[in-house]
Amino acid sequence: MARAEIYYFSGTGNSLVLAKLVAERLGGGLIPIASVIDRETIESTADVIGIVFPVYYADTPNIVRRFAEKLENVEGKYVFAICNYGGGAGDSLKTVDRILRSRGKTLSAGFGVHMPQNAFHKPWEMKSLAYRQAPKRIDFIARSIEARRTGLFYSNVLVQAMMVPFQGWLRRMTALYLEKASNTPAPSGLTVEQLMPLADRSFAVDENCNGCGTCARVCLVDNIEIVDAKPVWQSRCENCLACFNWCPTNAIHGALANTGYRYHHPDVTARDIAGQSGALT
Ligand SMILES: Cc1cc2nc3c(=O)[nH]c(=O)nc-3n(C[C@H](O)[C@H](O)[C@H](O)COP(=O)(O)O)c2cc1C
Ligand code: SF4
Ligand code: SF4
Repeated sequence: MARAEIYYFSGTGNSLVLAKLVAERLGGGLIPIASVIDRETIESTADVIGIVFPVYYADTPNIVRRFAEKLENVEGKYVFAICNYGGGAGDSLKTVDRILRSRGKTLSAGFGVHMPQNAFHKPWEMKSLAYRQAPKRIDFIARSIEARRTGLFYSNVLVQAMMVPFQGWLRRMTALYLEKASNTPAPSGLTVEQLMPLADRSFAVDENCNGCGTCARVCLVDNIEIVDAKPVWQSRCENCLACFNWCPTNAIHGALANTGYRYHHPDVTARDIAGQSGALT
């Protein structure tokens, strides 16, 4: 039987749960992207390679881009990506495909999965429904992988098609939003990907911060230093909102997440998230 390796990145647990499910169905190994991203190249010995990640700003997280840029030894293998999102996949699967193609490789298949939104409150969202449907969607995805199907398979084809004409406008609005969050005077001429690491400049803590260090441990790119028992952000942020969502006293605020809404997947702990970089394991 073909050997599978599933690489994943997750700030609040949704991608982790999906990655676990697909690894179980395929009998494959689970590898956190954060644990290999500092390598010069990432080489997989598996025949089937999966990449599971959340959608950020209708596109691919920077860390997943870097992962795709470093991925080697994939020629002739079946490479698939599973993105998950609160609304839609945007360009995320196409971006992974484009990066691989620019290096003479291809994405065999891409799949979208709807999961609860972790960045803002959607009053109409039915989280329990999303949790119930996710394993069924993963069953479909696992069968598709076993059949070596190729192409892009979105969970909400209509929304995906409707959003295509707005993608350029969305990127401009995102850049404006991130310029504000990063205190960068507009127009900066910086791309969304260049602005994202700087957007942590809007994070601050209130008097509820007790110096516990959870925020630093769940940050998978080591972007938080605890100085005098308070977090100090280092401007290499992935915008994953793990620090914000996992802070046990809800002490973190900022333009990136300026609502009272906090989210993490109910079956995932801060220790599971931190374990992606080996911090708590
Ligand atoms: C900075 C940021 C941007 C996001 N942008 C989008 C988006 O453009 N479209 C969308 O549907 N969901 C968006 N989301 C929601 C996440 O993709 C979704 O909740 C995902 O399941 C979170 O995965 P995780 O728990 O593995 O981190 C965004 C989340 C964050 C933190
Ligand atoms: S997790 Fe929250 S309480 Fe703990 S150090 Fe970070 S901001 Fe302070
Ligand atoms: S600083 Fe917070 S939002 Fe930025 S990468 Fe780290 S955990 Fe994620």
